[in-house]
Amino acid sequence: MKCEYHHKPSFLFSDRYQSVRIMEILGLISVPTWLFCLCLILLSLYLYTAWCQSVWKRLGVPGPEPVPFLGIMNRLFKQNLNEVDMDLHKQYGRVVGVYQGNIPVLLVADPELIKQITVKEFSNFTNRFDLIYPGEIMANGVNAAHDDHWKFLRNTLSPTFSTGKLKNMMPLIQNNINTMLEIISEKSSKGESMEMKRLFGGYTMDVIASTAFGLEVNSLKNPDDPFVNHAKIFFSGSFTGPFLMLQFMFPRLTNLFRVLKISFFPKSLLTFFEDVINKTIQMRKEDPDTNKDFLQLMLNTDKERTDSGGKHIKGLTRNEIYGNSLIFMVAGYDTTANTLTFGSYCLATNPDVQDKLIEEIDREIADKPLEYENVMSLEYLDMFISEVLRLWAPTPR
Ligand SMILES: *[C@@H]1O[C@H](CO)[C@@H](O)[C@H](O)[C@H]1NC(C)=O
Ligand SMILES: *[C@@H]1O[C@H](CO)[C@@H](O)[C@H](O)[C@H]1NC(C)=O
Repeated sequence: MKCEYHHKPSFLFSDRYQSVRIMEILGLISVPTWLFCLCLILLSLYLYTAWCQSVWKRLGVPGPEPVPFLGIMNRLFKQNLNEVDMDLHKQYGRVVGVYQGNIPVLLVADPELIKQITVKEFSNFTNRFDLIYPGEIMANGVNAAHDDHWKFLRNTLSPTFSTGKLKNMMPLIQNNINTMLEIISEKSSKGESMEMKRLFGGYTMDVIASTAFGLEVNSLKNPDDPFVNHAKIFFSGSFTGPFLMLQFMFPRLTNLFRVLKISFFPKSLLTFFEDVINKTIQMRKEDPDTNKDFLQLMLNTDKERTDSGGKHIKGLTRNEIYGNSLIFMVAGYDTTANTLTFGSYCLATNPDVQDKLIEEIDREIADKPLEYENVMSLEYLDMFISEVLRLWAPTPR
């Protein structure tokens, strides 16, 4: 069908507020220009989403019929992500093609294929996909960096988890455990009940603050500590909504956000942590002896490189230090607190497992201080934690 319209409107009427042009299509029906434009826009949007959401069909990958612009995201109003993924795998098999908004996502639940992606063919899958633009600082996090930048950060930061570093962190962790034990015995001597997520959340925050930043925040005892309050904003996710949705619907916007340096993290939040890290760095300059935490490890790095713009850089840039400190906190907090919380739930509901675990700890450690070696010797604990992680994965995907 061919649409024709006269450039000169056949009718024109106007009042004080607006003028509406009437067009004729094929000389038969008259439509106002705005309606015509609206239809054109809606049609383009529909074609856009239909094109974006045709990838898996073209490749012959099974999956659910996507909802325009939302893909499978409308399901998240009713179910959580884990449940959605499980249902999809039950219905469509081990490899499912879905759309997160207009972004094609392949769900893989085949162990062999996962191994191929993450090990054998890893060089083809180095980068995580740019789901959203996380802002200038967070874009320097090891999870968001690309290619050689990723490789550099990964190699620089990995030693944090070396045996030697972990051994040095044990006294810091022990301090936080002691505080937690005090609270537990105080509550239990009064016969009071406890919200475990809050307890383990506070404990985890304290461990991260001390092992990553060398800070004593004691969130278990001062839940209103500004560090804790700001950290909590990160996990509420309340600020991500509209920007996130916009990028899911129009994936190319990610590039625009990158160019304009628009971050969906509130500026006040980033400035607060920047300030904390700045002060800590300043303190380190005065007392450079501390050599056990993550921040120090980053400060000590003196590897040299040239960035993509040909600029010579020694060590880590400020943004790399900020971004990776925040990632350390973001990645460590909820995952650990949830695992401990579900672990305590599993022990409460499986008293025989609890007895066995107590028996092992009494046998291997008893009253000795916790050390890297004696914790590593707890085989049953290791099995227990693995099972908790299998049953209650702390993060989806
Ligand atoms: C992986 O990348 C290499 C070169 O970078 C290419 O030759 C190869 O075909 C890729 N493999 C797959 C499965 O795409
Ligand atoms: C942190 O220090 C850097 C470099 O000295 C400075 O540019 C930045 O403004 C400081 N940030 C805050 C929040 O004070």
